[in-house]
Amino acid sequence: MTVAAPINIAFIKYWGKREGGEHLILPTNDSFSITLSTEPFRSKTTAVLDASLTEDELWLNGEKESVAGNPRLVHVLAAVRSTCPADRAKLKVRVVSNNNFPTAAGMASSASGYCALACALVKVFQSTADVSVLARVGSGSACRSVYGGFVKWLQGTNADGTDCIAEQFANAAHWPEMTVLCAVVKGHKKDVSSTKGMQLSLQTSPMMPARIRDVVPARMAAVSEAVRNRDFASFAAITMSDSDDLQAVCRTTTPTIVYATDDSFQIIKLVHAFNEAKGRKVLAYTFDAGANAFLFTLRPDVPEVVALVNHYFPTPDELCAFNDPSLLRASKAVTLAPNCTALLGDYPKRPLTYLLQSPVGDGPREMSDAESLINLSTLAPILTVS
Ligand code: DP6
Repeated sequence: MTVAAPINIAFIKYWGKREGGEHLILPTNDSFSITLSTEPFRSKTTAVLDASLTEDELWLNGEKESVAGNPRLVHVLAAVRSTCPADRAKLKVRVVSNNNFPTAAGMASSASGYCALACALVKVFQSTADVSVLARVGSGSACRSVYGGFVKWLQGTNADGTDCIAEQFANAAHWPEMTVLCAVVKGHKKDVSSTKGMQLSLQTSPMMPARIRDVVPARMAAVSEAVRNRDFASFAAITMSDSDDLQAVCRTTTPTIVYATDDSFQIIKLVHAFNEAKGRKVLAYTFDAGANAFLFTLRPDVPEVVALVNHYFPTPDELCAFNDPSLLRASKAVTLAPNCTALLGDYPKRPLTYLLQSPVGDGPREMSDAESLINLSTLAPILTVS
């Protein structure tokens, strides 16, 4: 059983686990995301039950990993075994998984990785578990990658997490013009993991109580309307406010956390200046627990936006991974208006590490046996292919 699973990008952020929710990964607030396509980037996982194994086995990106040393993986395996037929529960599983993101892309892989794992395990164990709940136990944001389109993760109130589920709000076809670009910036900061960062923010940031109580519920309602009505200007305003708030929450955390680099701040400035120059909201940014900018824009504007990004952050074509390469080609024919060519003053032109493009995707997909990461005759891992 082989599955390819996508990344998702939240425009209303998950940042905090509720009391008693560390183990089951129960958030302090709802969140809302867009699932990307599995092209160009995805996590891929094959799982098989193997009666000859004495221990569960995980191979990740060609290396054998310790299962026992990974408590979240242990939780996921226990949850799947408690919801499957007894004859299957006693068998050990071999899992082989890889990501095709370039290592330098600095893309978080836990959402797509745990989503692919949960899909594969549910199938192979014939488990009755909800795939999204199982993915959530691995990494919170992974529960949203289980669905395509625009996806809400509802915080729920039950202590056992049974109502803490992700659900599709609208499918990919609802707003087909919506496009995501990811500007992977140069330079590496020593990051605080999102797991640790949100824990510290919850304990120390004075902004968290109001965020949980008022800010996020109001934004969830408003952005739902914006998505429903395909109102990009409202969507962009709310998305950028939530991203700014996440950065402010981190800044007001003790010890303070700053994920953004100079390039990240320049991209924020560029987005606002470009929207102003155009006289409408063409572009929105959002940042996770890292320096890379995720940009939302509508498909007709993509060539101009790519030309804009390449003007300030010139990036060679071989480092541009586009789901639709015709959009990159179209960007070459764009001449930026004179009021858009000096928006960052004398900030030096610095190439990106990568520029990625994806439409809204359909969610995980089962792959054929020919694409398996396990030899289905010998059950040996296949470690050489992507
Ligand atoms: C900033 O899902 O990585 O990307 O549940 O501890 O594994 P754990 O955290 P994780 O946190 C993601 C945080 C975020 C916002 C988001 O995706 O909603």
